[in-house]
Amino acid sequence: MSASGFETRAIHTGQDPDAASGAVVPPITLATTFAQSDVGEHQGFEYSRSGNPTRLALETCLASLEGARHGFAFASGLAAEDALLRQLPRGSHIVLGNDAYGGTFRLIDKVYRPAGWTWSPADLTDVDALAREWAEDTTVVWIETPTNPALAVVDIEAVAELAHARGARVVVDNTFATPYLQLPLELGADAVVHSTTKYLGGHSDVVGGFVATSDDDLADGIAFVQNAAGAVPSPLDCYLVLRGVKTLAVRMDRHCHNARVVAEVLAGHPRVDRVMWPGLAHHPGHEIAKRQMRDFGGMVSFTMRGGESAALDVVRRTKVFTLAESLGAVESLIEHPARMTHASAAGSPLEVDPALVRLSVGIETTADLVVDLEAALGAT
Ligand SMILES: Cc1ncc(COP(=O)(O)O)c(C=O)c1O
Repeated sequence: MSASGFETRAIHTGQDPDAASGAVVPPITLATTFAQSDVGEHQGFEYSRSGNPTRLALETCLASLEGARHGFAFASGLAAEDALLRQLPRGSHIVLGNDAYGGTFRLIDKVYRPAGWTWSPADLTDVDALAREWAEDTTVVWIETPTNPALAVVDIEAVAELAHARGARVVVDNTFATPYLQLPLELGADAVVHSTTKYLGGHSDVVGGFVATSDDDLADGIAFVQNAAGAVPSPLDCYLVLRGVKTLAVRMDRHCHNARVVAEVLAGHPRVDRVMWPGLAHHPGHEIAKRQMRDFGGMVSFTMRGGESAALDVVRRTKVFTLAESLGAVESLIEHPARMTHASAAGSPLEVDPALVRLSVGIETTADLVVDLEAALGAT
């Protein structure tokens, strides 16, 4: 199935009809243990933390979509990130983009730094500066692109070339783009990490994470941690992500379409200062995004001319856009990153502009989203 197109693999890879019953949808295998015909003789599964058929179906499918030889599902995006970070030698240096998910910052700064690792923030859109300020003991450059929440675009190929020349690995958090829009491993990344809670699940009803890599040594290390630390998703969670992935391509097309309309409306609104969406021609990363992405994604951020109070007014006033954290599902969400998703970055180099509002543009009727935003903006 690996030679097939994206949508075909999303629907079929790892998901052959069930051999026992012919069921077209892979069963949710809840069993924690699997019968052995003799000591050590089994059909590939012993104990569900180590391996589970529903999880294997998800891992096979997502690895194929990312173009990876190996894939590992986790109980959350942060558990997936943790499994990757554990692969770095203690004491080594992590470079994190200076605009990144607050939870990633918290994991690195509040869990790994006290345990002996060092890290520094970097503007990964400026590869020359990254080269100039390179710390010799850097073992990984951790990229988000587009970034959360400012939607900057990082040139994955250029960063990977630099990092590899200096002996470091590159991880790309592909949560915002998804493998439908962007394939980091093809662009030179060593590993991809996901919060499958977002677009891959797609329906705001499951928390999960995923790591994809074609590096066999890295894969061995992650497989070991997945089993040894045990932050695995339940079979039901795996099933929900797998079901979400089947419609990823059509959902992403609609997310991108709605985001374009919303971004253009915001860009023409007098109360809005700056609109951040890589599809806008004036976006500083537009040309790179055109090169490395199929389309520009469903996330749109903007700053309000009236500062924080105006931003808070807008997020309180929408009706179709629900005020909530998270992103990437069918319903549109609005939030205030400085006080919500990125509150953990307050006072750090990753602190977010309090005038910034982040939208996860859903797949509702386009005109309803525009009317809702215009009403909320008009009232401020
Ligand atoms: C870009 C990004 N990466 C990782 C995560 C963490 O994922 P999870 O919440 O599934 O642990 C998030 C969560 O919002 C995110 O937005």
